[in-house]
Amino acid sequence: MMWRILLLFTLTSRVCGTFVVTVGQSSYQAEENQNISLDWTFTRPDPFRISYVYILCEKIPDQRVLYRLFEGDEVPQSEDKQFSGRVQSDRDVLREGRLRLHVSRLRTEDSGLYECEVITHQGRGSDRCNLTVSAAVGRPEPRPYNDWLILVGLGSVAAAVAVVVAIIVVLVKQQSSKRPPVSPSSDIYNQLRLIQILKSV
Ligand SMILES: *[C@@H]1O[C@H](CO)[C@@H](O)[C@H](O)[C@H]1NC(C)=O
Repeated sequence: MMWRILLLFTLTSRVCGTFVVTVGQSSYQAEENQNISLDWTFTRPDPFRISYVYILCEKIPDQRVLYRLFEGDEVPQSEDKQFSGRVQSDRDVLREGRLRLHVSRLRTEDSGLYECEVITHQGRGSDRCNLTVSAAVGRPEPRPYNDWLILVGLGSVAAAVAVVVAIIVVLVKQQSSKRPPVSPSSDIYNQLRLIQILKSV
């Protein structure tokens, strides 16, 4: 009887509170292309056996798997392709009851709510954090259509300038063709004046 009460007490205490998962920070801020470490701590099971540890970390609400540990083994193939090759777990700190995930080369679409659930033979729990990844300053994301717009814009400006120059050239030519040639007659005029001046002297 006593044994049954004790067993019941142990079972309920395991379910209702002695096993706790807590996120290190409820909110993280980072810039695109930076690396970040997301931290969770969980009640260290005693005795600790890595094969009794199950972890599932997901980006919610789209449920993209960030990290999965099944009976102590990492399952990279179940990671969503958004995170593939970008998430590493610090295995050494796991046995201290810490889950540390290094996420490298952050993207703006990594922004969102993340939840890690830890299950051990002593209970289960989960906690969430929010990650905000801002676009890198001074290095805007490539926008291919803008290049075309700039090219088209420059092209039209060049065409307009060419048309204006052509009109000016035509107008100047028309003006100069209306005017009688100046230099030969003025030469004659000067020569005549010179002759007149010489005669009068
Ligand atoms: C980010 O992580 C990657 C891969 O782990 C590493 O090669 C790179 O040096 C890290 N960058 C910084 C700034 O820590």
